[in-house]
Amino acid sequence: MTDNGRITRRTLLALSGAGAAALATGGLPDIAWAAAPALPLPKLVEGRDGETIVLTMRPGSHSFDGVRPAATAGISADYLAPVVRVRRGDTIRFKVENRLKEETTLHWHGLMVPSAVDGGPHNTIRPGDIWAPEIAISQPAATTWFHPHPHGRTARQVYQGLTGMMIVTDGGDADRGLPNAYGVDDLPIILQDKRFTANGAIDYRPNMMDLMHGFRGNQLLVNGMIAPEAAVPAGLVRLRLLNAANARNFSLRFGDGRPFFVIAGDGGYIGDPAELRALIVAPGERYEILVDFADGRAVELLNGDDPDTAGMMGIPLPGRSDVLIRFRPSSAPQVSYRLPQGLDAPAEPDVKTAVSWRTFTLDSMSMGMMGGKHGPTINGRSFDMGRIDVTAKRDTSEIWEIVARDMPHPFHVHGARFRVLGNGGRKTEPAAVGWKDVVLVEDRAELLIVFDQPAPLAKPFMYHCHILEHEDQGMMGQVAII
Ligand code: C2O
Ligand code: CU
Ligand code: CU
Repeated sequence: MTDNGRITRRTLLALSGAGAAALATGGLPDIAWAAAPALPLPKLVEGRDGETIVLTMRPGSHSFDGVRPAATAGISADYLAPVVRVRRGDTIRFKVENRLKEETTLHWHGLMVPSAVDGGPHNTIRPGDIWAPEIAISQPAATTWFHPHPHGRTARQVYQGLTGMMIVTDGGDADRGLPNAYGVDDLPIILQDKRFTANGAIDYRPNMMDLMHGFRGNQLLVNGMIAPEAAVPAGLVRLRLLNAANARNFSLRFGDGRPFFVIAGDGGYIGDPAELRALIVAPGERYEILVDFADGRAVELLNGDDPDTAGMMGIPLPGRSDVLIRFRPSSAPQVSYRLPQGLDAPAEPDVKTAVSWRTFTLDSMSMGMMGGKHGPTINGRSFDMGRIDVTAKRDTSEIWEIVARDMPHPFHVHGARFRVLGNGGRKTEPAAVGWKDVVLVEDRAELLIVFDQPAPLAKPFMYHCHILEHEDQGMMGQVAII
């Protein structure tokens, strides 16, 4: 495996003479880091009640290693998108322009909105067209995101860079004692991976194994950069982690093993912070964590084995214990935060409220092996936009049992939130106790899911595996809420 980015930086340093100087004073890792690109910080766009936010989906050109440009796509950006921050209680008008050469949609993943404006495969935007949904923000503060969702083409479009983070705020973070200065002590950390061609272009040519297990890259990216460095204040910092990779699960820990504190999951705050030293973030999942940099020491955030593929069919895996990003405390904090206790704790899930029990079995192994007859399925059926798989009653809750037949699958539902009652026969992980919309199912999980947004038969919500290659090939179903 070559690490294009770092080799390039080293070469540049050697040419400039700085490499030789660094070599005399330290080891190779320092040389590499001495020239590490800065963590790209997406522009912040604030939504205000009744105002319009324009988002333009378009081709772009972006350098993933800080040196060579690659053809990409982005949303009002060359790669990725501005971070859109909206306030609970406001209604935002979006104007989504499609300046791509193909059909697309823009799905608000994690926003609790009616299916009419959800941006799923039924909300297509043709090239040159504009989609203008009005979005009323009524949910608790949370980190959400947005990405295209066109039928059968989601994986490729997201891979090109069409993805962004959305922050729902309720204006209460200063009172909660939480870091909330965007780009200073409140940072978006968008995790992805990619393969590149020898000349640095994005390489998305999934083979049969990639289609079966999901497409994983051999270079890890944070906010679209390979191994960047972030300057942070020497105090408590909030990281908004978003796994926007097509298929890879990130297995996060800090290089010195320091603890960190999960304060929120997909759907918002989880009560008391969960102290952890390692955290798995599956595709589509978000976690907000607090990390203490008060000791002033630089530290790396590392990624370990992907539980989805460790040992699977003996395939050696790229990207083991790779550096995702290095944090360098470089200034005194503007505000000294202490670890908060008792943030908005979600009520205990009440299973007695459930009116139905349904089982969904996710299966990808049959794909392509039995003569290529059918792709990945849920309950033996491949996705069909013309078929409603489930009809649920609005303002009720149900127990959904998700079974992963052959490998772990990150299961996601649109327009609804759930609580994890159990996963793999174990108690719910401390980080996963709150409201969620994605859960990594390794064996079998039980969810208490609440439907409060409308989705008529003509425009149902989606539920699917968030491995985008699985989704595109049919591991998706439709639920109407009436
Ligand atoms: Cu992240 Cu169906 O979506
Ligand atoms: Cu979604
Ligand atoms: Cu899957």
